[in-house]
Amino acid sequence: MKRIAVLTSGGDAPGMNAAIRSVVRVGIEAKMDVYGVNRGYAGLVGGSFIQLRARDVSGILEKGGSFLQSARCPEFKTEEGQMKALHVLRENGIEGLVVIGGNGSQTGSYALSKRGFPVVGIASTIDNDLYGSDITIGVDTALNVILEAVDRLKITASSHERAFVIEVMGRDCGYLALMAGIAGGAEAVIIPEVETDPELVAEEIRSAYERGKNHALVVVAEGAKYNATRLASYFSDNHERLGFELRVTILGHVQRGGTPSAFDRILASRLGEAAVNAFVEGEPGVLVGLVNDQIARTPLDVVNSRKKSLDPRVVNLARVLAK
Ligand code: ADP
Ligand code: F6P
Repeated sequence: MKRIAVLTSGGDAPGMNAAIRSVVRVGIEAKMDVYGVNRGYAGLVGGSFIQLRARDVSGILEKGGSFLQSARCPEFKTEEGQMKALHVLRENGIEGLVVIGGNGSQTGSYALSKRGFPVVGIASTIDNDLYGSDITIGVDTALNVILEAVDRLKITASSHERAFVIEVMGRDCGYLALMAGIAGGAEAVIIPEVETDPELVAEEIRSAYERGKNHALVVVAEGAKYNATRLASYFSDNHERLGFELRVTILGHVQRGGTPSAFDRILASRLGEAAVNAFVEGEPGVLVGLVNDQIARTPLDVVNSRKKSLDPRVVNLARVLAK
């Protein structure tokens, strides 16, 4: 394979740049020409390519986001959009495509793969909801951003003897909330995977108050039935029963913009290499990720037909530690 392209798609994740840099430099080492596609699948459909040489990816390792830019492209979900992309790829002499992104993006990569184009996916999303990688690029940095916020909120919560509901991202997945709850010492964690009665949350907050705690933190995943807004509105008619006054913080996109941690830079560099190797060894049609601490290839059809689940022991640990 002589000419490959790389794109970033979906929600940006800290470490995407390290993955691009690795694909470019490992690709060049393998005697390939490497092209960058701007704005994800939108750039693919629109034919927006630039050749990337080793120096073009200098100075991006330490930056969050994606220097190729990312996008959500509804057109690519259609047959017409995919056929256009294939045409553009072939017209530009591209023989293989690396897709750096999460769940939706890897559904897109599978769509191209099913149409016979060699694609390799790199597992990258802060949500950690992608089957085929125990941890995806961006999760570690996002969690550290969340934790810094949780620690700060705990300080002001304690000073004012308040309860805080802190909403974190994750789409339909509770991974970020669960881990932030454990690492941040939350009194309660609410995730989509476990149906939670808001009355029980009220009891947890009340109980923390009665045990003499000077704060109560509830970390809630945005995808939970009772997200921060709905939870606050549920309690709004009767705050007093919580003991504490209640405040709500929705962390939002600040979680995506962090400087990539050492873990994310190293994971991304390794997965970039693994993606190029999959082409060199003639095994495209896979997602490269980290499974049991090893770099692993998972066929894209498997990635797209399985759902990643949370470890029930970790869910239970969060409950036990919230005493
Ligand atoms: P993420 O990859 O972070 O989960 P999205 O779900 O927004 O982000 O998906 C990113 C892009 O992947 C979409 O804008 C679209 O271009 C492509 N995509 C998502 N779902 C599909 C699908 N079912 N078929 C083809 N392409 C898809
Ligand atoms: O997939 C990453 C993510 O940040 C999700 O956690 C969140 O639900 C979504 O993207 C937000 O999307 P947007 O950036 O389009 O608002």
